[in-house]
Amino acid sequence: MDLRSSLQLLGGLSVAQFMRRHWQRRPLLVRQAWPGVRAPVTRQQLFALAADDGVESRLVSRTGGAWAVRPGPLPRRALPPLGRGAWTLLVQGVDLHVEAAHQLLRAFRFVPDARLDDLMISFASDGGGVGAHVDAYDVFLLQLDGQRRWRVGRAKNARFVEGAPLKLLRRFEPTHEWLLEPGDMLYLPPQWGHDGVAVGPCMTASIGFRAPSTDEVARALLHGVAESIDDGDASPRYADPRGAGTTSPGRVPPALQDFARAAWRRAARSPRSLERALGEWLSEPKAHVWFEPAGVAAAAGAGTLVLDRRTRMLYDAHHIYINGESFVAAGRDAQCLRRLADARQLGGAEVRRLSRAARDTVQQWLSSGWIHER
Ligand code: SIN
Ligand code: CO
Repeated sequence: MDLRSSLQLLGGLSVAQFMRRHWQRRPLLVRQAWPGVRAPVTRQQLFALAADDGVESRLVSRTGGAWAVRPGPLPRRALPPLGRGAWTLLVQGVDLHVEAAHQLLRAFRFVPDARLDDLMISFASDGGGVGAHVDAYDVFLLQLDGQRRWRVGRAKNARFVEGAPLKLLRRFEPTHEWLLEPGDMLYLPPQWGHDGVAVGPCMTASIGFRAPSTDEVARALLHGVAESIDDGDASPRYADPRGAGTTSPGRVPPALQDFARAAWRRAARSPRSLERALGEWLSEPKAHVWFEPAGVAAAAGAGTLVLDRRTRMLYDAHHIYINGESFVAAGRDAQCLRRLADARQLGGAEVRRLSRAARDTVQQWLSSGWIHER
């Protein structure tokens, strides 16, 4: 992809211009970003997904001023009749379950996969929406079907309605209002208040990008680094300093605290262990994801390898990450496997150039159903 060529998806801006001017800064409304867009699921398919307990969904409805939220799974009978207004069904991770939804995300791969959260699709009856709120996410709101009126305004120091089942903005001062038609798209940075109300029944796709907080990353890294420590006998053991006994036996010895500080530094000393923990965490599949093992698959190398749509594959200077696991790769193996991560497929000729060890690893991915051979 040429980052400097003008894209209809971004209203004629190039990726470079969009990233500079709008990404994480200000909204962008694009009329006919995706002319003739086809919803990757029908309404019936979306309802069927919501009924599945392996899919994350919720129903939001409003009666007068009162909001109600019901988490999925939602059998069809749990959904209000289509003719009743002011309700919306939201289905997360549609890209994990429906190939056409996964394919739709390809248009947004100018943002690193490590930032991608998922594709959510909502169906709303007339007047339906989730109220004025902010998200911690960058989001592209692509109108798939019908019309939705968006009101948008920066929400500084957002405060929320107490006791509501949704995080609704207590004060919302929209500065823009747009009626979106099928194919129109609205980009919103995090912390912009927004309220989308269906005008007649409508379907909207949200392509969301997560921005982890320092707390989340720290928790993930600490966990990852802890997992990578093996209980080797070689690690130095604490020794009491020379001296007398204690008259305050309850107190933690300061020397033991110093030892702990040194152990902490030692655990996080290797920058590779930190990178590895990060890559493993970022490539971890979502909670609802499982793969269908292929069992004893055909030997790798016969055809093109294609990543399963649920597979998250990333890399850094030293590692390849796939579905929460890391592999050290260098030279030609690294080149080929990085291409697999970027293009999500790898031609048979390239697969044959992999080392024996890399091919064995690929074979395991095939057997686990993480990749497929075409
Ligand atoms: C929706 O599709 O109804 C909600 C999307 C959002 O506001 O984030
Ligand atoms: Co939102």
